[in-house]
Amino acid sequence: EKNGYDHFMLKEIYEQPNVIKDTYRGRLHADTGIIKMAGVEDNLQKFLNANRILIVACGTSWHAGLVAEYIFEEFARIPVEVEYASEFRYRNPIINKDDVVIAISQSGETADTLAAIKMAKENGAFVFGVCNVVGSSISRETHAGAYTHAGPEIGVASTKAFTTQITVLTLIALRLANAKGTLTKSDYFRYLQEMELIPQKVEEALQTNDVAQKVAAAYKDASNCLYLGRGYNFPVALEGALKLKEISYIHAEGYPAAEMKHGPIALIDEQMPVVVVAPKQEHYDKIVSNIQEIKSRSGKIIAVVTKGDTQVKDLADHVIEIPEVSDALSPLVTTIPLQLLSYHIAVMRGCNVDQPRNLAKSVTVE
Ligand code: F6R
Repeated sequence: EKNGYDHFMLKEIYEQPNVIKDTYRGRLHADTGIIKMAGVEDNLQKFLNANRILIVACGTSWHAGLVAEYIFEEFARIPVEVEYASEFRYRNPIINKDDVVIAISQSGETADTLAAIKMAKENGAFVFGVCNVVGSSISRETHAGAYTHAGPEIGVASTKAFTTQITVLTLIALRLANAKGTLTKSDYFRYLQEMELIPQKVEEALQTNDVAQKVAAAYKDASNCLYLGRGYNFPVALEGALKLKEISYIHAEGYPAAEMKHGPIALIDEQMPVVVVAPKQEHYDKIVSNIQEIKSRSGKIIAVVTKGDTQVKDLADHVIEIPEVSDALSPLVTTIPLQLLSYHIAVMRGCNVDQPRNLAKSVTVE
C-alpha cells in the first residue's frame, strides 16, 4: 500500500500534485472566474459581514492557518487572527456573534480544536471547518465546512494535509475577494489560473529530491537547525522546523528572518545550518541581507530559491531551486523541498519516519 515508496511519508509527499488538484477540482473554474464551494456559498453573507476571522488549529494545521492569515488579509481585506486552539479555549477569549471562526484539522478529532469550536459556538460565532476526514467529530460539530481531498494521511508527520488545507483556504479567500471586489479583476483571474498551474509547479519542486538528499547527507549529524522565511514564507519556515524536529529529533526553530537580529543570531556559528526560504518575492533584498548576516558569522546556508537566482546562490552553501510562483501561492511550492529535506535526514539517522517516537496521528487528549 506504500505504492513502491519506502515510507508512507514519502508517498504522501509525492501525492501532493494530485491531491491539490483533487482539492480544487470542481470548485475552481478559472475560465469563468467561478469558485464554487457549497459551505461558503450557503454562508456567504456571514463571511462578508464578519468583523474578523478567527482561525483555530494545532500544529501543522496552525501553520496552514498562518499562511491563510496572510492570504485572507491580502486578498479579501478581512482582519484575521490565528490562535492555538489550546490557548484560545483556556483564556476566556473575546468571541462575538459577528466573528467567523475557521477550525482547521486534518484528523477532525483534535481535542483542543474541538473544544475551541464548542466554545465559539456557545458564544454565537459561526464556525466553519476545514477537515480531511469525512464524518469526523470536527466536521460534524462545525456549522459548515469544506473538506480537503488529501486522502488518508498515514505518516504521522503531516505533509499533504498541509498543502491541501492551504489550497482550500486560498479558494475561500479568492471567493470572498471576488464578492468584495478587493482584488482587481485581472489579479483575481491571474490567481485562479495560477492555482491550476500549482500541481505542475509542485511536481517540479519534487524534482529537488536528489539535491535535498545531498544536503541531508551534509547536515544529518547537526544537533540544531534554524529555519528562516519572510511574509508568506514565514509560516513555511515554522513548518519546516516542525517537520525536522518531529521525525529526525534534531532541535530546530523557525523564525521570521528579520527577527534573527533580535536574538537567534547569537546562536550562529560554523556548526549551525540555517535553512532560508528565499524565493524571488517582495522584500527579496531584505532576505539577501539576512543571508549576508548569517554568512558573516560563518553559519551554513541552505537556501530555497527561485530557478535562475544568482544573488542568494553566490552567498549560500547549498541552493535548492523551485519554479517561479507568485508570493501568495509560494508556500504550496516552497514547503516541498523542506519536507524532502526532513524526510532524508530522518531516514539517514535511522529514525522511524512514519511513526516518530512520542507522537500520535490524532491528539484526542487535552
Ligand atoms: C505535525 C502534526 C501535528 C498535527 C496536529 C493537528 O506533522 O501532524 O502537529 O498537525 O496535531 O492535527 P489535526 O490537523 O489532525 O488537528
